[in-house]
Amino acid sequence: MSLRPAVITGVGSYVPDRVLTNADLEQIVDTTDDWIVSHTGIRERRIAADDQASSDLGLAAARRALEDAGLGPEDIPLIICATITPDHLFPVTAAFIQDGLGAPAAAYDLLSGCTGFVQALWTARQFVATGECEHVLVVSADKLTSITDWSDRSTCVLFGDGAGAAVVSAGEGDPSATGLLAFELQTYGEHGSLLRVPAGGSRRPVDQEALDAREHCLRMEGPELFKLAVRGIPDIAERSLAKAGLTYEDIDWLIMHQANLRIIEAAARRLRVPDDRLVINIDKYGNTSAASMAIALDEVYRDGRLQPGHNILMVSFGAGFSLGGAVIRWGS
Ligand code: ACO
Repeated sequence: MSLRPAVITGVGSYVPDRVLTNADLEQIVDTTDDWIVSHTGIRERRIAADDQASSDLGLAAARRALEDAGLGPEDIPLIICATITPDHLFPVTAAFIQDGLGAPAAAYDLLSGCTGFVQALWTARQFVATGECEHVLVVSADKLTSITDWSDRSTCVLFGDGAGAAVVSAGEGDPSATGLLAFELQTYGEHGSLLRVPAGGSRRPVDQEALDAREHCLRMEGPELFKLAVRGIPDIAERSLAKAGLTYEDIDWLIMHQANLRIIEAAARRLRVPDDRLVINIDKYGNTSAASMAIALDEVYRDGRLQPGHNILMVSFGAGFSLGGAVIRWGS
């Protein structure tokens, strides 16, 4: 079977209007703007309204991506939504997006954290490359503030809400020279307990005891994850580049998961990618989980920095513990 190139033909993103600044957080927990900025690089984040669920954020981003691709809902046969904050345990969040768009599409979720966008692009590529679908809509949407423990200063200062989307379509030419060139993904389940929501699944259903202990909220061992990320990023990045037949010198844009500015800068130094090729928006949005890199991709595209022929290296890390790398050659 000959494979077709899979290219990104449209991107879009959406963040809620409400801004929560570090000064606002100083009123909620024992923290300071100084600590947050110096330890994370975050200055503010967006917070979804009470009546906005992840699918609402995702739907707004999806509409923008479809418009950018010049496609209508009728052109989309498959929607994949990456999220760890689904509207409900089921039906899947992608089903709400499918209904909102009115697309005659199959729709399913990829229950994953920050690596979700790369995982979903990787999945979409298979459907497009093999000829199964002409277009796949990938949506990354997270309302992390719905699982944030607002009494825990070590986590509540980190997260924000948002969504990003990309349309993956069949391209023309050599699949090794156009579009989604290469992926490398790996999960290290032995570190899974470092980032989790302890209650609410089949192992630990939510009961009063769980609620009292706030086990329905996100728990994170930040320093341990920090070390895993800084150690794991160069390896997954190198493997992704090698698979694409590229080196760091070929990279025009490094888009990393926006979890911590210190992680991004430390990794960029190790990867020998200069600062002016880094895409950074953590200062405005905090960590938006699966949405983080999709929002960053949309920003660098819409402000004109990303040009046809540019090579993008995406590197993500997060719950699992998982790592993901993607190399993309941007189309026209
Ligand atoms: N304000 C003030 N002080 C604080 C705060 C706060 N918000 N949070 C923690 N501190 C204190 C701690 O209590 C501690 O004080 P102590 O020394 O008196 O005990 C001190 O600051 C240092 O705490 P650390 O946790 O060691 O701080 P660190 O420098 O490691 O920064 C952080 C913490 C920002 C969480 C960092 O470890 C990190 O970014 N880790 C990686 C997170 C990540 O990448 N997660 C994966 C992706 S997320 C996803 O998938 C959804």
